[in-house]
Parts: sequence; structure tokens; C-alpha cells
Amino acid sequence: MDAGWRFAFGNATDPGKDFDPVPFNNNNYFAKAGNAVGAAAMDFDDRAWRTLNLPHDWAVELPFDSRGAGSHGYKAIGRNFPQNSVGWYRKSFTIPNSDLGKKISIEFDGVFRDSIVWVNGFYLGRETSGYNSFNYDLTDYLNYGGNNVVAVRVDASLEETWSYEGAGIYRHVWLVKTAPLHVAHWGTFVSAEVNGNSAAVTARATIANDGTNDAAFSIGQTILDADGKTVGKSETTGLSLKPGVKNEFTSLLKVSTPNLWSPESPSLYKLITTVTSGGAVMDRYETPFGIRTLRFDANEGFFLNGQRVELKGLCVHQDHAGVGSAVPDELNIWRLAQLKKMGANAIRTSHSPPTPEFLDACDRLGMMVMDETRNVGINAAQLDGLDTMIRRDRNHPCVVIWSLGNEEFGIEGNAKGARVMQTMQTFARNLDPTRRFTVAISSGWGNGSSQSIDVMGYNYWNHGDTDKYHAQFPQQPSVGTEDGSTFGTRGIYFDDSAHQHLPTYDASKPAEATYAEQTGTHYAPRQYVSGYFVWTGFDYRGEEGPNFEWPAINAQFGIHDMCGFPKDLFYYYQALWQNQPVLHLFPHWNWPGREGQEINVFCDSNCEEVELFLNGQSLGRKTVKAGSVLSWPVKYAPGTLLARGYKGGSEILTSQVQTTGEPVAVGLAPHKSTIQTDGEDLAITTVQANDAQGRLVPTAANEIDFTLAGPGRIIGVGNGDPSSHEPDKYVPTVAAPAVNWRTLAVNSVENRPEVAFDFDDSAWQSGFGAPGGRSGGRQGGNAVPPAATNIYRGTFELPDTNDTTVSLLLRDLGERQWIYLNGQPIAQNVARDNAGHQFDFDPATLRPSKNVIAIIATPLAGGRGGRGGQAGPGRGSPAVIQAVTKAGDWKRSLFGGLAQVIVQSTGQPGEITLTATATNLTPAVLKIQAQAVTPRPAVAAR
Ligand code: GAL
Repeated sequence: MDAGWRFAFGNATDPGKDFDPVPFNNNNYFAKAGNAVGAAAMDFDDRAWRTLNLPHDWAVELPFDSRGAGSHGYKAIGRNFPQNSVGWYRKSFTIPNSDLGKKISIEFDGVFRDSIVWVNGFYLGRETSGYNSFNYDLTDYLNYGGNNVVAVRVDASLEETWSYEGAGIYRHVWLVKTAPLHVAHWGTFVSAEVNGNSAAVTARATIANDGTNDAAFSIGQTILDADGKTVGKSETTGLSLKPGVKNEFTSLLKVSTPNLWSPESPSLYKLITTVTSGGAVMDRYETPFGIRTLRFDANEGFFLNGQRVELKGLCVHQDHAGVGSAVPDELNIWRLAQLKKMGANAIRTSHSPPTPEFLDACDRLGMMVMDETRNVGINAAQLDGLDTMIRRDRNHPCVVIWSLGNEEFGIEGNAKGARVMQTMQTFARNLDPTRRFTVAISSGWGNGSSQSIDVMGYNYWNHGDTDKYHAQFPQQPSVGTEDGSTFGTRGIYFDDSAHQHLPTYDASKPAEATYAEQTGTHYAPRQYVSGYFVWTGFDYRGEEGPNFEWPAINAQFGIHDMCGFPKDLFYYYQALWQNQPVLHLFPHWNWPGREGQEINVFCDSNCEEVELFLNGQSLGRKTVKAGSVLSWPVKYAPGTLLARGYKGGSEILTSQVQTTGEPVAVGLAPHKSTIQTDGEDLAITTVQANDAQGRLVPTAANEIDFTLAGPGRIIGVGNGDPSSHEPDKYVPTVAAPAVNWRTLAVNSVENRPEVAFDFDDSAWQSGFGAPGGRSGGRQGGNAVPPAATNIYRGTFELPDTNDTTVSLLLRDLGERQWIYLNGQPIAQNVARDNAGHQFDFDPATLRPSKNVIAIIATPLAGGRGGRGGQAGPGRGSPAVIQAVTKAGDWKRSLFGGLAQVIVQSTGQPGEITLTATATNLTPAVLKIQAQAVTPRPAVAAR
């Protein structure tokens, strides 16, 4: 259900601008089943709204504004911006007659935030958290063999966390169809115990009988290995359920010589659960899972499959350049791959559960996860968040521990914290007895939360004394939930506070945190700790402090910038965390004007020794100390810095940094040059400035313009500059100005004075109404006899019309229609067409503020058919006005020589040509092939 949504801004403070027609009648969004009003109504006219695909984050499309919340990256959203803080989404979809009798629900992976959902005018529910996945049963409300409309109001006025959260339906939406007898939502739970050479798999399946009769059935469970071979099987027969009842059934299966899941070898299995009744398969439900053992030991740390494994973790947010929180699946996969490259094996989803597809990727790529709930507390909403996270995510082998919260300053050091954690943990353990629980604790260690939590979570090792704590609580395992928090700007090597840029290498940190080197050095010998999670894997919007404020808009804690370009710290961890030889020299060597001045040259390496040369002259050989960086003071002279890395006395690696020339050409490099035509796949493309020898110019800041031809679209651009206010997106502005309609019955169509701009229509009937008075319920508006020829006069205000196309989207009001704008004829004697008509206005006919549209329509023969204009306020309208201001042309400046452009498949096969141009540089032309694939069913059904 991701494609073809309509979107428009509502309003957080003005009901009239929020499509709320209440002043006109006494109905509302919730009063009567199937009778919601305004944009929640089935037949609301949304034709003038913008069309877009999910996932969608409207916050990232907004400009930056100093009145915005710094924590959220100063986007023009929130309480100071009621006009930008409520978004409405609507989508039409057909349900065939053959679906009658099925159970049909809609599943939202996540909506930020406070969403209210209706289908066909039926209120389905409200989800306040922006991080919970949720679903609603549609079965009884659908039009089988007809059109259906889902409407979602999203209110992002309030924030939930202290960093960027986006706004809108920023994750996938699914339509789920099952038989009435089916595996319940998130209805399986697979766990395995490994004994010697075999695994005992416990497969729990909750079966729901949503039919109206007793159901007799059997459950078949089959385990398939990664090649699709059956490796375990069970069948439970003679089961029954009363209608409206669900129950959990458990089977035990055995898998011999299982392939254990681990980051190095992420082997997956699939449990196929089939529900069979009367000889027919009612439901077939796939549950991917993995077989592995987990153990957190108080003295020896974390064990995976019986081996001690250090958690080499990173805290990550769901936020990327160009796309905000609406991170496409392929981009999440790419981000994970970047983290794996640096040797990380774990992620903490700070500070909320991720989108489920992110966990699918972690399963497949081999990345362990600390999955964190959003809201801490013991009441329904908080526990519901916990329940949702665990039931949704507990089959993922990647999830190795649950986190019950982060830095709850108010309670973490007192008795309330101890009680709350105890209650949450007891609740959670009933949902998953196979994993352990932690909470990130920044203060009060030894009191409060730490007393009741399963696994102590040290939020910054220097916030207490981990050795003392361990000695005091020798039975409690522990993990560094957050640490090593330093900030810096990619490619910046000298302080540049004027631009809110900081030297990139482990040189600045919040007062309460520690440097990367200090953290690594602290934890390395302390085997009782299970490893630690660095704050953070990537830069993220918001939290621009503590040293900076507006116009800084980004946190700079990342080991990568917002685009995923590595900072130098990447190589520090790469040298520390993985075994491939690493030799990374920095800074870059373009320092005109600093000739003869001393510059510290650093080297990250896991070689035994490194020797540095400048223009062939040795500057000395040094011994590498694990977890530390080497440095040489070097008098700057342009040329080549060369490092030679030695192991066992032999040179194993060299690395060099050269002074480059001026930029002469643009370069484009996609992460892959063939993408799939599934409408989702991406080519994540690096843009750079090269010198005459094809070397990246690390100081280039050229502005690059992008054009694209073929079956692709640009969905975002970025450059990683934490204080850049350049747009991430160029999207059209689509306004649907409210039209104030009045109606008069007349007896001719020629020479009507009523079409004049300044005709006084104050005595006319206002609005539109369905004929037949109460037959349509309390819909309000005045009935218009269908048998009459009518004049419809609508007044509307136009926004600034520069570069804007203003159109009238007409429904068939009558058999013949005459249309006037501000007294000027637009079209005469237009024949009825159930598809409606569109008229683009000549800008010369438009007025700067108030405009008047007049439509004369003769009676409809045979009543109103098709999408006819049976409309009252909030129940559609005869015509809508659409003002589309073209999107600007895609462009972005380079920062530190680099930028990123994200190209997505439109769903069609063929060759995509991306061209990047810049003044005085040779352009780059990139060809990307869009290769035909069968999209996954959910996408194909779009
Ligand atoms: C931590 C907190 C994180 C983030 C970080 C910034 O204390 O847990 O969420 O705010 O500080 O330094």
C-alpha cells in the first residue's frame, strides 16, 4: 500500500484549514459509524492534493527556521508552525468481490505521530506513538467489488524524543488478507535451544477463528533451511476453536546439525505454519528465524553460540541525508553495510524500535541488535509499546537483548526507577523468556533502575566506577549501552566555529562523555562487560549542541556524516574492531598558505609499526599501540605523505595522501549501477570534484546541478555539512485552496450576469448538499434539486502564483457545463464525462488574492452517476482548485569535496542517465540500468 497516496497539509490550530466542516453541521469525525466528515469522509474530494509514494517524511521537505526546535534540526514544524504540523493522507484502493469472507486488515509499520485512521468514513483508531507498528481490522467496513478510501490524519506538533523524528507515514503500509481461520497478527514465536549437534525448536502459533462457526483444524509446521530444504516437521491434528476465539498452540521440532546464526555467518531458517481445515489450507504463514544461543555472563561478558563475543556496537537513528526519517529499505541495508565494513557487529536502536524491515536486514547481513522501547512507564500506552516491540520483533535472530529505556534521569537513581524497571521487565519477560533486558543508566548506579534490571547498562563508563559496581553486584551482567561520544565534522582539521565545524578526529566531546580512545582503553581489559555501543554510527539531525546552536542543525557525533561518508574515526574503529590490515592517514594534504607550519599527521592502523614519509623523506617509524592513534608533527610542504605499515618486520601495506590540484571535473559513483524495477531500489551515488589526475579534491565546495532522464527519480541530496541549509529535497508545492461555494437554480445558460466577478451572491444557498434531506444523515449544506440548471459560484484565495499552474478539477455537475473564471469564459458547453475535466487557467485571468469561479450546469440525465458531484461541505465538492508550484531544479554544493544524490527506480525498465554539472567543471554522466524484476506482491499490488 505504499504507492499513490494523496497528501495535503491540515492545520493544528485552525479547524477550517484542517478540513473540519463542523461549523456547517453537527456531525464530526467520530460521531457515527461510517459517517466521518471532512477529509476523513469516503467521498471527500482529494483530487487537488499532492500525489506521492510512501515512505514519506514531510518534515525533511520543509525549510529550516530558527523558530523550529533545535532538537529536531530547526525544521519549520512543531508548535510554532501549526500550518506545517498536521498532514492528511488518503489512498483509494479496490477490493474485489472475491475477497468477501476474508479477514482484511491494514498494517502501518510506523507513523510519526499521533495518527488517526479511517476507512470509508469508519473511525479505526488512534496511535499516538510515532514508533509503534499498528494494525486495524477493515473486514466489515470494506466495499467489496468497489472502491475504498483510507484516510490518515497525522499530527506532528509534539515531539517524542530529543532528536529529529520526521513527520508523516514514514514507514511502509501493508494490506493483509487472510482466511477467517488464520495465524493471528504477529502470531508466531519461534525459539531454539542448541544441544550438542541438534537444536530443539519451540514453535508457538496463535490461531484465531474470526469466522462465525466452530472451526476444526490442524496445524502443520515445517522448518526450511536457507536452500529451501525441509529440515524439521510437525503436525498437530484434532484442534478446534469457537468463533471469535484465539489460542496459542505449541509444537516441538528438531533440527539436526543446525547452521547457527552469527554476524559472520547469518544463517536463516523459515518456519512455515499451515492451518488446514476440511482438507483445505486456510492459512500459510512464514516466519524467518535463526538458531543461536545467547548468554550474558556477569564475569565474562556476552556469549554467542558458546563463544565470547564482544559487542562492537553503535547507536543509530533512523535519519539520513536527503530522505529524513523515510529511509528506503535499500538505504538501510547500505547503512548497515557501512557499519559492518568498519567492524561493528551490533546496533542499538536509539531510542525507539526500528522499522521491521531494518531488522530483516540485520538478520540477513549479520548485525546484532539491542532493540529499545520508546516510552518508559507501567501504564497501558507504555506497556503497549513494549508489547508491540517484543511480539513484532522476537523472532529476529539479530535481536540479542531488549532495552527498556534510556537515561530516565527522573527515576533511574531512585526507588521509583527500581519499581518501574521491575514491572516492565516482568511484563516483558512473559512475552519473551528467551532474552535478557537492559536499560541505559547514566546516574545513580547501585540505586534505582540498576537494582532491578537484568543486565546493567552503563551509559558512559565515567559516570561512575564500573569496577566498583561490578564488585558490588558480582551476579549482574553488564553492557556499555552508550559511550565514546565525540563530535567532529568530516574533512575539517582545524577549528572553524564560525561555520559550526569542528576538527574531525576524537578531539571534542560533551563534558559528560569520553573520547573514543579513552572508551576503548577502558573497556578493552574489562571482560566482565559485554562490549559497548558508541554514540553514534551516523550524524543525525537535531541535538546540534552542546557547543553550537542555530544555524547549526545537525548532531556531529557520527562516525559517518549524514550521507554515510566516513569520518576519520571510522578507521580508528576499523583498526580496533576487525582483522584486515588498516592504514589510514589524515588530514588531507591541501594546505596552501600553511607552508612551513607544523601540522599533526595522524595514522590509524592495526599494523605493528608504521613509518611516515613526506616527499620521500622518512619522518620516523613508530610502534602501534592497539586502540591508540599514531601522530607525527610535520612541517607542511605540498606533495605526498606516505605511510608504510609493517607486521613481523615486513611491509604489508602502504597508504598515501597527496596535495591535489584544482577541481576540473565532476565525478559520479553509484553504490551499484544496476537497480531493480521495483519502484523502491536505489543507486546511492557519490558526487565529487576531481583534479586533472582524477583525485578527489578534499576542499572543493562547488555547487552541482543534477538532471535525470529515463525511468528514475532523484529522492534526495545531501553533503554532510552539519550547518548547511540547502534543501534535501526539491518537491512541488501543491495547494488546494478552500473554495467557498454558493448555488442558485436558474432556467437558462446564456448571458448569465451571475458569472461576473463582483456579482452579489450573498443571498444564494451556501455550500452543496445531498438531495433528499436526512437520507444522507446529518450532512448539512443545502439540498440542490438535481432537476434544475444551477449556477455554482465559488470564491477562493490564491497563494503567490509565481511559477504556479492553477487548475480547475471539475466533476460532472450536469449534462452540459459552462465555466467562467473572474467573469471570463474558460470553456463552453462541456459535455458530461464521469472522469471529470481539468482546466489549467491562463495566469493572465487570475487575480492576486480573491478569485471567482462560476459553473453553469444543466440537469443530469438519469441522476448523478459515477463520481458525480453529490457534495456537501466535507462530503466532496463539485470542483476543486489546485495550485501547483514547480519543484526547483535539483542541486547541492559539495562539502569536503563530496555530496550524495539518491536515485530511485520508478518501476519501469530501461537506462537512467544522471548528469551532474558545475560551473567551470567537466560534467559527469552516469548510466544506471533499471533491470526488470517482478516486484514483491505488496508493491506489485500498488
Ligand atoms: C546521551 C543521550 C543521547 C544523546 C547524547 C548526546 O546522554 O543518551 O540520547 O542525547 O547524550 O550527547
